[in-house]
Amino acid sequence: MSEKPVAIITGGGKGIGAACCRALSEGFQVGIHYRNSEEQAKSVLAGIEDGFLLRADLSDIGQVEAMVNEVKERAGRVDVLVNNAGISVNADIHSMKIEQYDAQRAVTRGTWYLTKRIIRLFMLRQGGGRIINISSVVGHTGNSGQIPYTMEKAALDAFTKSLSKELAGRNILVNSVAPGFIETEMTQTLPEEIQRRILDTIALGRVGRPEEVADVVVFLAARGSYISGSVIHVNGGLYGG
Ligand SMILES: NC(=O)c1ccc[n+]([C@@H]2O[C@H](COP(=O)([O-])OP(=O)(O)OC[C@H]3O[C@@H](n4cnc5c(N)ncnc54)[C@H](OP(=O)(O)O)[C@@H]3O)[C@@H](O)[C@H]2O)c1
Repeated sequence: MSEKPVAIITGGGKGIGAACCRALSEGFQVGIHYRNSEEQAKSVLAGIEDGFLLRADLSDIGQVEAMVNEVKERAGRVDVLVNNAGISVNADIHSMKIEQYDAQRAVTRGTWYLTKRIIRLFMLRQGGGRIINISSVVGHTGNSGQIPYTMEKAALDAFTKSLSKELAGRNILVNSVAPGFIETEMTQTLPEEIQRRILDTIALGRVGRPEEVADVVVFLAARGSYISGSVIHVNGGLYGG
């Protein structure tokens, strides 16, 4: 097993998660979690010094439990958990279906369960750790037509705040990083008209890069020793928090 501290990044095969894996690989052994993007995850692994792959559909608790066991075998410890995996279910209040609510909720449920197990099996025993949840600016501002997504992202920030209070005495720091509009597959699929409208609201006049989110994640993972229960906004001046 590696001597380095271990960071697990969910949804590490692409987008913001892949950028976090690359950035964290400077100081950590990196557990790159993916669900469907196997080839992309393998290519992230090929580009870093020390890491391993983990596969699980977070909406399936049995798969999450199997993943935790694999982490135990592969790494034996977890110092940093980055809960990045997410989907964006878009619907307004009239069109939103129960199934959409459940699909969005299932990823948050898996994130909660993974976090609970990592805390119990590793961080408490090791005497500390860092948990970083990737939420979103729209959990704060709201966004018309994104009811399921915005509800779950707000819930994730509430999870950050409550968990940080529960774990502060155990040297486990918990924070959220809330990106604004970042250039990834998730945003590239939005209609051009909506992309243009969003661009108008960003003070810096451009979308962000996944690496610009990863910079903040690295800071919270490796430094940031007096930050817990916070939501750090990374949005080019779209919203100040
Ligand atoms: N891009 C933005 O502007 C933006 C803004 C604010 C917040 N965010 C948040 O940042 C995070 C990363 O987003 P991104 O833009 O990088 O999106 P992305 O490229 O679409 O990546 C989403 C990731 O989530 C994983 N994932 C989705 N459902 C999963 C499930 N059921 N089980 C396991 N993994 C699952 C995917 O894994 P596979 O591909 O392997 O299936 C993928 O790696 C998300 O939480 C997103 O809400 C993004």
